[in-house]
Amino acid sequence: MNTPITLPEWAENQSSTQTPEGVELSAIFQALSLLGKMLTETIRSGGVDLIGAYGSENASGDSVQKLDVLANTMCKEFASTHGRFAAIASEEEEEIVYLEESITAPYLLAFDPLDGSKNIDFNGPIGTIFTIYKRSDTADQSTIMADFLSATTIAASGFVLYGPRTLFIFSIGDGVHTFQLDPETQEWILLQDTLSLPDPITTYAHNDSYVANWDSASQQYLTAMKERHPDTTARHIGALLADIYRILVQGGIFIRAFDNASKRSAKLRLVYELRAMAFIIEQAGGAATDGLNRILTIDATDIHHRHPLIAGNIAEVQEYERVFRAS
Ligand code: F6P
Ligand code: MN
Repeated sequence: MNTPITLPEWAENQSSTQTPEGVELSAIFQALSLLGKMLTETIRSGGVDLIGAYGSENASGDSVQKLDVLANTMCKEFASTHGRFAAIASEEEEEIVYLEESITAPYLLAFDPLDGSKNIDFNGPIGTIFTIYKRSDTADQSTIMADFLSATTIAASGFVLYGPRTLFIFSIGDGVHTFQLDPETQEWILLQDTLSLPDPITTYAHNDSYVANWDSASQQYLTAMKERHPDTTARHIGALLADIYRILVQGGIFIRAFDNASKRSAKLRLVYELRAMAFIIEQAGGAATDGLNRILTIDATDIHHRHPLIAGNIAEVQEYERVFRAS
């Protein structure tokens, strides 16, 4: 068996070929990996009193869970003491939080502190999503909002997935790297240096209860896709990052089309969920679209902007776009 490579060892090996920005982003992900360990410990060892609703709704109207609040506080504390972030945007914060101590710092951090909160009460997979944005002007605080909304400022993204194992998946624009937390040594061990989305359409993922309300092009695509790939099988975890990670490992397509009737199906948020997923999917050789445009070219209208996401196998995403545009 090969000697395990820890995250700091791996980062050290990478550093000789990285740009100064790559080294900096890599250091940020090492710091995020420490936050990931703390979050893991809290989530895994948290008592039963940590399970359940907090008793409020967030800016998107989701029922906030106690663990959402705790994870949000931990992410916020991390960002405000790290020093390289000038502001944060979070699913659990109505507004941008400006970090006065490091307001001239070069990066912004957006996060979904606990993605898949509906899985908490039955012990299903959940995770934390990070998106790092590069500021356009560190001397001007008034540009921060525009930098969060812009499609051009994303520098890196990653997520921690709390499943039976704890995984840390990230990309700084040089492929997708995956690490697994060793519960004994508390080290992140390299799982895959570069993760590539496999070609077969092994699975497809969507919340079936919304299909009747999808636009007809999305419905038409789904029917035809199943006919083209008779061996494909449905899988839906209900935690975006876990559904996306499964597709990264097994191949396939994720569909969250616009829902004409309830508008709920376009609930996924661009600034702290979709772009992170799109960045990773693209870095793994896949694609992410809303049917008309590549997700990573879409500007947000506000910090909690919701948007459809169709992501995964490149040929299937292109086929979805073809059907959608023709309609
Ligand atoms: O953050 C939103 C989220 O929790 C995603 O992780 C997940 O894909 C989705 O909501 C599930 O929502 P629904 O129950 O409406 O399918
Ligand atoms: Mn989420």
